Amino acid sequence: MFSNKQIERIKKKQTPFFVYDLNLLQNTLTALKQHAGNDVKIHYALKANSNLKLLDCIKKAGLGADCVSGNEVKQSIKCGFLPNDIVFAGVGKIDHEINYALEQNICCFNVESISELFVINQLAAKQHKKAAIALRVNPNIDAYTHKYITTGLQENKFGINPYEFEEVIQILKTLSHVELIGLHFHIGSQITSLVPFEKLCTRVNEINQWFIEHGIYVESINLGGGLGINYHEPDSEVIVDFKSYFDVFRNFLKLQPNQKIHFELGRSIVGQCGTLIASVLHVKKGINTNFAILDAGMTELIRPALYEAYHKIENITSENSTLLKYDIVGPICESSDCFGKAVLLPETKRGDIIAIRSAGAYGEAMSLNYNLRKPAGKLYLK
Ligand code: LLP
Repeated sequence: MFSNKQIERIKKKQTPFFVYDLNLLQNTLTALKQHAGNDVKIHYALKANSNLKLLDCIKKAGLGADCVSGNEVKQSIKCGFLPNDIVFAGVGKIDHEINYALEQNICCFNVESISELFVINQLAAKQHKKAAIALRVNPNIDAYTHKYITTGLQENKFGINPYEFEEVIQILKTLSHVELIGLHFHIGSQITSLVPFEKLCTRVNEINQWFIEHGIYVESINLGGGLGINYHEPDSEVIVDFKSYFDVFRNFLKLQPNQKIHFELGRSIVGQCGTLIASVLHVKKGINTNFAILDAGMTELIRPALYEAYHKIENITSENSTLLKYDIVGPICESSDCFGKAVLLPETKRGDIIAIRSAGAYGEAMSLNYNLRKPAGKLYLK
């Protein structure tokens, strides 16, 4: 995955750090645009990674920004995204965040509850503005992914349920500072089968039709993100199969004339371009295993601790060919601070460099300063 020259650069830098392959990001964006076609708008989900260097490439590729906090809106604007290319989502937007987004004249608020409709209307009125909104609908579709990153089931906190639609329509008639322009859906993340997306299309068709029958035409249908990446064999699929993904929507979605499709992809854009690099501090014998203790931990990449997520782990400096089993752990005082159990690696010793793959999405962005850890460094490869 890394050339010898790149490994030499990596060896010179103080670990732990994230290394980002900007070339791969660029190629991923090119593939994304090619397969999405010109008639769809893609907003990049900043929550996956809001690193300015990555954002800059993404903005230059012509994507918009999907934000879930006032600071993400700020970061997008700082990076040069046009306000009209920024959407603001989230079940609990704070009043000052809404005010800031209104001041910036962002393109759309994705509204997740009836209560929020009233709040946005009230805050927009104070600014003498009309806020464009999309209703985030909970379509009750199982994404068959980890329960912590499933969002489109009725039991989840996200979105407005169809049984509330009648009430929403009545309320909207009374609110003069919001304008409904879209319907928004997002069923979950790291979805590796296309079947849930097919089911989503069927649901979207029904819901879109319901609104038409009730006299409401919306100009945008936002299908969220969620496309999963190959964590097990990243090198066999460095760029995800965007074609098959977009084909599902081309084949199954029935749009009304002039309706525009929006997507909000995060992980599938940045996931594979990032790797977490760590040094082995110690190797010690456990009862049934060896522990390789790294200088990176759940503070840099929390996914394994939080979701028992798998990330491929490689020793990129060992010249030994004997394979041994290691539990790859971090330095944090938590037993969940473990990147992988019984991982087969070439015999590993103190000072070896370990690469934890596919860490571009929800790695740096979810970093913690628990134990007063300082932020990991960054290295950009072109
Ligand atoms: N749109 C909405 C409304 C979302 O909630 C999300 C992700 C996305 C778009 C982008 O989804 P993506 O294309 O990245 O799957 N921390 C977890 C993932 C949480 C995803 C949250 N929402 C992880 O590390 O797996």
